[in-house]
Amino acid sequence: MTALDIIIMAAGKGTRMKSRTPKVLQRLAGRPLLQHVLDQAASLRARRVVVITGHGATEVEANCAQGTGAGAQFDLQCVRQEPQLGTGHAVQQAVPRLAGDGTVVVLSGDVPLTQAATLRALVEASNGGRLALLTVQLPDPTGYGRIVRAADGTVQRIVEQKDASEAQRAIGEIYSGIMAVPARLLGPWLARLTNDNAQGEYYLTDIVAMAVADGVPVVAHRITDALQVAGVNSPVQLAELERAHQMRQAVALMEQGVRLADPARFDVRDDAKTGARAALVCAQDVEIDVGCIFSGRVEIGEGAQIGAYCCIANASIAAGAVIQPFTHIDGEKQGASVGQGAQVGPFARLRPGAQLGREVHIGNFVEVKNSQLADGAKANHLAYLGDATVGERVNYGAGSITANYDGANKHRTVIEADVHVGSNCVLVAPVTIGAGGTVGGGSTITKDTPPGSLSVARGKQMSIANWKRPLKQAR
Ligand code: UD1
Ligand code: CA
Repeated sequence: MTALDIIIMAAGKGTRMKSRTPKVLQRLAGRPLLQHVLDQAASLRARRVVVITGHGATEVEANCAQGTGAGAQFDLQCVRQEPQLGTGHAVQQAVPRLAGDGTVVVLSGDVPLTQAATLRALVEASNGGRLALLTVQLPDPTGYGRIVRAADGTVQRIVEQKDASEAQRAIGEIYSGIMAVPARLLGPWLARLTNDNAQGEYYLTDIVAMAVADGVPVVAHRITDALQVAGVNSPVQLAELERAHQMRQAVALMEQGVRLADPARFDVRDDAKTGARAALVCAQDVEIDVGCIFSGRVEIGEGAQIGAYCCIANASIAAGAVIQPFTHIDGEKQGASVGQGAQVGPFARLRPGAQLGREVHIGNFVEVKNSQLADGAKANHLAYLGDATVGERVNYGAGSITANYDGANKHRTVIEADVHVGSNCVLVAPVTIGAGGTVGGGSTITKDTPPGSLSVARGKQMSIANWKRPLKQAR
């Protein structure tokens, strides 16, 4: 294998996106387009990657520098192209940064779905000495560079849409914008480019005719899957690629045995908050209903069921757990976990540090943050558990909350095993409710309670006999 360097073109404006965000930083599956392309570079084990920036260069370079994942595996450099005089001119800016040996692969920052195997095949076709073009046959090739072949089928040149004759425009085989080229030939060819064409640009694609003239073999590696070379130019195209990408992930999961109610209503994404890479890992017989969104790393155990319209990020759901519809789980950096056979939702919210044991029940409109609930604990309705340690089999009543924040610091509430907290209680932390104890409904508990006790802390009930309600006064 010859050494591999990669040039990623990312200087273009992307006018049709109608966005303040540079095009290559638009997100697909929660991940900037450029990061998808950097992932491709990583899968090729590139030695060096040079990203050509222009429009939005500062933002694009900052995103590269974050090196989320892939970027860490190779030497990543950015070079600015100002002004932008065409794709040939773009590549020319990168050449001085390359070692001059091995193979160079040219990619576009706005083509996110190329598969690693395709790029590997392209590099193989180049084989250290040939110019290899990735091409595809399109039913409507309008706008693309056409692959012009001689009578014997050998590739002669690429002609751009605006320079093509009527006959050439009828050619359906187009250049994808991706090529593999021997590094030692690239520099000299680029030096010979002119901008004598319909757009007054330096076309990278003109090196094809130069290769033919120099007797360097040109090979077209033609694929049939147009998605792999589809670029993003507009919000509509971005959405199309998003759906196609999600469908691929859905199909892969279904092939592993996951039951998706509708693969067209299913999303797995990078997590925007933490930057965690999308990774949904499912055991056998997992069922996922429509409209769920999984972000970052999510693990789901055997036989677990995820109801419709749940958003689940950075969490693990153990075997047999049932997550009812419209539940929101976001573990952020800390993570969140749901124990075996637990039942959560509908309309529940689990936040970072929520750790539910086996058979825990969390019902509608219950929020849990940074709290451990031991096996069999239940909070079934309208409640808040923050910074709490909850023992086994605790029953936490409707409308009860832990007052965990005094305005400056957060404090812990400990609810020991087998406690029964009535409805509408306020447990003012730091406080401990002793094992087996009961807290009467409506109590505001500010002091620790002894095990086995009944604690009631509220105004005593009084009743005034024959009470007359005020009457409306005549004016
Ligand atoms: C290019 C190809 C065309 C191919 C098509 C595939 C040329 C001359 N034509 O056409 O044969 O079918 O891609 O999509 O190469 N860019 C820069 N600097 C520049 C110009 C462009 O970095 O000065 C970047 C763009 O941001 C983009 C990529 O290069 O990522 C392609 O540029 P674009 O203008 O879209 O090329 P096309 O005219 O579509
Ligand atoms: Ca284009």
